[in-house]
Amino acid sequence: MNPPRTLILGASRGLGRALAIEATVNLSAVVGVSRKENLLQAMAAEQPLFTFLVADFAKTEDQNRVLEYLRAQRFDKIFLVAGGGPYGLFHQRAMRDHLWAWETSFVFHAKVLHLLASLRRGEQTIVVGSSVAEDKPDPHAASYCAAKHALKGLTLSLRAENPDWDLRLFSPGYMDTDLLPKNAAVRNEGIHNVSQVAEDLWRWSLTPPGEAHKMDPQLQENL
Ligand SMILES: NC(=O)c1ccc[n+]([C@@H]2O[C@H](COP(=O)([O-])OP(=O)(O)OC[C@H]3O[C@@H](n4cnc5c(N)ncnc54)[C@H](OP(=O)(O)O)[C@@H]3O)[C@@H](O)[C@H]2O)c1
Repeated sequence: MNPPRTLILGASRGLGRALAIEATVNLSAVVGVSRKENLLQAMAAEQPLFTFLVADFAKTEDQNRVLEYLRAQRFDKIFLVAGGGPYGLFHQRAMRDHLWAWETSFVFHAKVLHLLASLRRGEQTIVVGSSVAEDKPDPHAASYCAAKHALKGLTLSLRAENPDWDLRLFSPGYMDTDLLPKNAAVRNEGIHNVSQVAEDLWRWSLTPPGEAHKMDPQLQENL
């Protein structure tokens, strides 16, 4: 059997980067997409199985370019990883920052899922949610939290509509990445190593379809 071909949307840093490394170590050819060309280039120089596209998921023209690429290319595994949002009281952050969060963390992913559902090519698709923010309030991260709630609702509804599609939601807990502010209090309570989370995610992607949603076990207990 040929090694899987993998697409990672949000691959230059954090979980997406760690997942790209995990996938290439396991001999998967990876196409990574995100904004920072220098980081993607550095990855490609280190990992011969890694190639990339530069795109900003908050920009409609870049979204369309990635969707056209996806229409023309087949993958075995597609990971929707990018996410983010402004930190602070909702009314004190500019509306453009909230719109950025929604485009990057939800709207673009919804467009990708709409295309994949209509193409019915059967590619495994794993959406990255958040055990921290998709089920309960996340003060000072309201627009990010809203996007993650929406992403969970959409992903699990699509899975229920298309039971044969290996569409899954992976909801990590706190990880040591740029997304988590350096002074975040949770850093003192023990957060996950991102390479370990990437390894868990890759291993889960190799299991047979069945489990639609995987959460951080520690945070699941506290729900
Ligand atoms: N870190 C945590 O504690 C935590 C907890 C729960 C869930 N999560 C979720 O896990 C996922 C990965 O988070 P992370 O912590 O790895 O975040 P991160 O370190 O901030 O990395 C985000 C990745 O997404 C890309 N990206 C961000 N905005 C983009 C845009 N507009 N267009 C294209 N690419 C974009 C970034 O690359 P460029 O900057 O090069 O574009 C980067 O590769 C996210 O969905 C996040 O919500 C994280």
